[in-house]
Amino acid sequence: MASEGGNITWHEHKVSNADRVKAMGNKGAVIWFTGLSGSGKSTVANTVDHKLHALGKKTYVLDGDNIRFGLNKDKKSLIEKCGYTEAAAQRFGVGFSAEDRMENIRRIGEVAKLFSDAGIITLTAFISPYRIDRDAVRAILQPGEFIEVLVDADLAVCEKRDPKGLYKKARAGELKGFTGIDAPYEAPEKPELVLDSNNKGIDELADDVIAYLTKNGYLS
Ligand code: PPS
Repeated sequence: MASEGGNITWHEHKVSNADRVKAMGNKGAVIWFTGLSGSGKSTVANTVDHKLHALGKKTYVLDGDNIRFGLNKDKKSLIEKCGYTEAAAQRFGVGFSAEDRMENIRRIGEVAKLFSDAGIITLTAFISPYRIDRDAVRAILQPGEFIEVLVDADLAVCEKRDPKGLYKKARAGELKGFTGIDAPYEAPEKPELVLDSNNKGIDELADDVIAYLTKNGYLS
């Protein structure tokens, strides 16, 4: 592959994707959970992970809060924990502006692509509120490799759950740019799967995901 704007060249791996699938016992995929804070993305992703792991499948969860502790640290953490200068932290730190969320999702998309290429069923749990950012991830993956799952819960339901007390803070004006309150959430128009998190429990939602994967040949 030709260089992409600079003096870099793509190297093909000697181990083919087919070799990896054979070694892993399953094809990779990216199961992309999207939804409001408190919709149940992380809990469902973790439950699916647990159930698939018990079936001997190779899986991994990439989770919003956790990734922001590491790969996508905020500006303050880059300065305090990694010794970044103010200017470097300003450039590379990830917060919650629309631009920062875009970069957050872009990086996660690339990481998920690598995991999937390695033959891992990769479950991602990010609000990923912008359609354009999710579609950009879909676009870097193979057809069928990206399974968009809307964890559908009404704002009122999420706000009532408020597991981290963030809706309360946002309503009080102590937290600005909170998704669903004063920052947008764009639901997918054609997700592969919609989970009814208003009415179903976590176990049932996880089974809905596994039923989809089974029906569409992701587990064979
Ligand atoms: S995004 O929009 O995809 O980049 O967000 P994500 O990386 O998934 O991180 C969401 C978690 O960060 C906490 N948090 C916020 N969420 C939304 N808006 C604002 N302003 C915000 N500030 C902090 C919150 O705990 C989210 O976790 P979940 O699991 O979704 O509740």
